[in-house]
Amino acid sequence: MEFSIKSRSPERRRSACLVLGVFESRAPSLAAWPASPDARRALAEVLASGDMDGKAGSALMLRNLPASGSERVLLVGLGKEKEFGDPAYAKAIRTAVKAIQGSGAADATLLLTRIPLKKRSAAWRLRQAAVIASETLYRFDRFKSKKEAEASLARLLFAADDRIGEAAAAQALEQGLAIGEGVALARTLGNLPGNVCTPGYLAEAARQLAEEHALDCRVLERADMEALGMHALLSVAKGSRQAPKLIVAHYHGGKPGDKPIVLVGKGITFDSGGISLKPGEGMDEMKFDMCGAASVLGTLKAAARMRLPVNLAAIAPCVENLPGGAASKPGDIVASLSGQTIEILNTDAEGRLILCDALSYAERLKPQAVIDVATLTGACVVALGNVASGLYANDDELAAALIDAGDTAFDRAWRMPLWDDYQEQLKSNFADLANVGGRPAGSVTAACFLSRFAGKFAWAHLDIAGTAWKSGADKGATGRPVPLLAHYLLARAGKLR
Ligand code: BES
Ligand code: MN
Ligand code: ZN
Repeated sequence: MEFSIKSRSPERRRSACLVLGVFESRAPSLAAWPASPDARRALAEVLASGDMDGKAGSALMLRNLPASGSERVLLVGLGKEKEFGDPAYAKAIRTAVKAIQGSGAADATLLLTRIPLKKRSAAWRLRQAAVIASETLYRFDRFKSKKEAEASLARLLFAADDRIGEAAAAQALEQGLAIGEGVALARTLGNLPGNVCTPGYLAEAARQLAEEHALDCRVLERADMEALGMHALLSVAKGSRQAPKLIVAHYHGGKPGDKPIVLVGKGITFDSGGISLKPGEGMDEMKFDMCGAASVLGTLKAAARMRLPVNLAAIAPCVENLPGGAASKPGDIVASLSGQTIEILNTDAEGRLILCDALSYAERLKPQAVIDVATLTGACVVALGNVASGLYANDDELAAALIDAGDTAFDRAWRMPLWDDYQEQLKSNFADLANVGGRPAGSVTAACFLSRFAGKFAWAHLDIAGTAWKSGADKGATGRPVPLLAHYLLARAGKLR
């Protein structure tokens, strides 16, 4: 797909499909299309006919609208004008892209990107439109014998405000497309089945990413991790025939001396629970347990594509969690890289075991901040559902910046408490701490466990158990929280307009 921008009189451009918004009042949006009196009259007739009532999510494709200058005019419902905010804007873009794809149009001009939005800049509208269009165009059919027919749509043109300026508009579009690519990478890695997407596969994907974007990438093997003393991480790998991998990739966009922002992503390529075996129903979805790792690679890709002036590292501990004769058992005690000993009371609480060693490793990179991303607890899904990711942090400024980035990207997170009171639940009779804290506040105690390994730097943890993938008819990885993380980096780099 080719994306471009036009700021001067985009409505005059002849295209195979011109896309206009219509509010529920049946008024064409301001940004609509004053093309000619004849065209306006013809449009008014259509609206009066009742064929398009402006309801959000509705669309009406018109052919040969008199004097329109375009072969097709697509009307997209925007809902009530007073309620037109970020979600309605996203829905309109999504609806438009789907309707165009379902038509024979080879190119389309979206005027929707000119509709003013409360508190959102023209650059925001363009960036967001690019992200949403990319997400809507995404397909995953690698394992389908019959591929979907190629859509005829090849070019999408976004109308920019007159005042934004060519360079700023182009930059916003580029940012949106970069984020879209990062999201697509995260989704594809997430969607791949566990027999394909093994720790070794993820390591190879990281190497390939490094190749494409001139990044440094190093993969620590089992022997390296043994030599370092990462026995918490290694304990999770014992039941599997797949060798564990620790991916460490760097993007150097900042000054050589700038401390890096370090992203750490949970990469359990399949979580059976281990000896504490999970129930069978829905267990296939545990192939998504590496979505944290996928999201840090996706974010690295987006940052590199945008050439952000920041130093960024991505660390992804990648392990398969299976039962077996050599697997860890409840009651086993292991020594972590930090020196703290851990009693494994439940082998299904494996994410924190691989992350704690990855966090200790992150400390060696002298980070400015560390953000870990993990499908960590079912309890987080109970608390926040599929709407917000759970956010925990030992640093208020970092937490606020991440919340803000999530709001801007419409990839939201909600802050949860990390109070010391909860640490009680992690007491062990035999080791320094236990890997589970019982049923109450399961997402909080998981974060508390991680906090014990993140004492020496500004740290945040995103529990994405409810947001990383969808179940049911739309089953598939979402690519979250790549948009949140990318916006956090954009803001840090001073590149958000
Ligand atoms: N990967 C799971 C968390 C999960 C479960 C994410 C369901 C999304 C949906 C994690 O490794 C896990 O099994 N956590 C346990 C922790 C418990 C044993 C303390 C859980 O949430 O049940
Ligand atoms: Mn588990
Ligand atoms: Zn897990």
